[in-house]
Amino acid sequence: MHSETERLNEIIRLGAELNSIQDMDILLQRILLEARKVVTADAGSIYICRSDKLEFSYSQNDTQQKELLPGQKLPYASFTVDINKNSIAGYVAYTGEILNIPDVYAIRRNAPYQFDSTYDRSSGYRTKSVLTVPMKNNIGKIIGVLQMINAKNKKDTIIPFPLSDEPFVLHFANTASIVLQRAQMTRALLLRMISMAELRDPKETSQHVNRVASYAVELYERWALQKRISKEEIEKNKDILRMAAMLHDVGKVAISDVILKKAGPLSAEEYEIMKTHSLKGAQLLGDIQSDFDEIASIIALTHHENWDGTGYPGRVDIKAGSLSNDDVNKKSVPLKGEEIPIYGRITALADVYDALSSKRVYKDAWKIEDVLKEIRSLSGKKFDPELVEVFFDSLELLESIRHKYPDE
Ligand code: C2E
Ligand code: SIN
Ligand code: SIN
Ligand code: FE
Ligand code: FE
Repeated sequence: MHSETERLNEIIRLGAELNSIQDMDILLQRILLEARKVVTADAGSIYICRSDKLEFSYSQNDTQQKELLPGQKLPYASFTVDINKNSIAGYVAYTGEILNIPDVYAIRRNAPYQFDSTYDRSSGYRTKSVLTVPMKNNIGKIIGVLQMINAKNKKDTIIPFPLSDEPFVLHFANTASIVLQRAQMTRALLLRMISMAELRDPKETSQHVNRVASYAVELYERWALQKRISKEEIEKNKDILRMAAMLHDVGKVAISDVILKKAGPLSAEEYEIMKTHSLKGAQLLGDIQSDFDEIASIIALTHHENWDGTGYPGRVDIKAGSLSNDDVNKKSVPLKGEEIPIYGRITALADVYDALSSKRVYKDAWKIEDVLKEIRSLSGKKFDPELVEVFFDSLELLESIRHKYPDE
């Protein structure tokens, strides 16, 4: 096993790596833009393979963009395509062949693939020439497709994509697949790091992390729908929240095994040390550069705050640097109610629901009736009362998640 410092350093290095998850979005949009410039395509899309489907993931469209008012955004389209020969994108993902179609409305009737005109009909856009190429990973497996739409000549007339465009678009598909693979590797690495931090106690498996993250996402979704937050915003935040909630206890890597693995109750002094894990986690994740880091850091910092202001660490400056236990536990001003960020309030509830209903080194699992009674009684004290309502409204789903990730 690595030493304490080495483990800490690894987590810190990971903090920098995490940015590449956010960077991926920016990079893929950039690659799409450059590819379109090189072949003068009016529009373009990237589809990414996810669990046996192609997910429509990025799209750009100059014509539609021009029709928008300043500051307005293209409507967020989200759909999936089956990976088979029936659609254009599906065919390319299925066969790995390039498809260069001069006019999608003139596809031979006996061709295996047909153009899906749903988007054109709903948007009023007219698709004509479409060049679609596969994105392959380093062992030749198809991980997505890059699609160029409506080549334009100098007079802005739509023309077919010339054969000579194909190698250029393939080049961009390769670049895109490198970016995608790196992000996917970072994600896998991140998951390994999380379980490494958690697995220090062999009885507390990474299932704890999976459960807390899944509970948090469910609670957030129901809460956000009640708050009439847009579907698009919710979807985006769910992904970020899942990863960020997984890291809520990452600061525990800085706590010594003697305390962390103690079989019985902690002494007052040990508990004070234990409580520094919130601030330490926030500092590890604290180089706020992306939405992801920011939310992860906020959750690590505030997941032990209480609605009535009795939690820890209270209002602290995570940049102030000092890790002295006194600073963490004594000098800060309490944080209460809606001053506690929503993601922290949600993770607090998810964390305690999980801690009570599971076995820990220091305690047995509680009976579910007792867990629910405790949560109910802590409404308005430890927990946001609105979230406690959301919790009981979602209970069936939460319980099914609990059974889905059992401790072995
Ligand atoms: P954890 O095990 O993930 O627990 C998270 C939170 O769940 C706790 O935050 C507490 O609010 C709640 N919780 C867990 N078990 C119980 C319980 O039996 N009764 C009640 N009322 N609430 C419970 P807290 O207290 O800030 O503790 C943070 C972390 O400190 C815990 O994370 C655990 O790793 C450690 N810890 C707390 N107490 C003890 C202890 O007595 N012995 C040991 N070895 N570790 C402890
Ligand atoms: C398809 O590949 O058939 C979908 C093309 C599109 O709707 O842009
Ligand atoms: C404490 O609040 O002192 C510890 C509660 C627990 O997790 O057992
Ligand atoms: Fe914690
Ligand atoms: Fe926890």
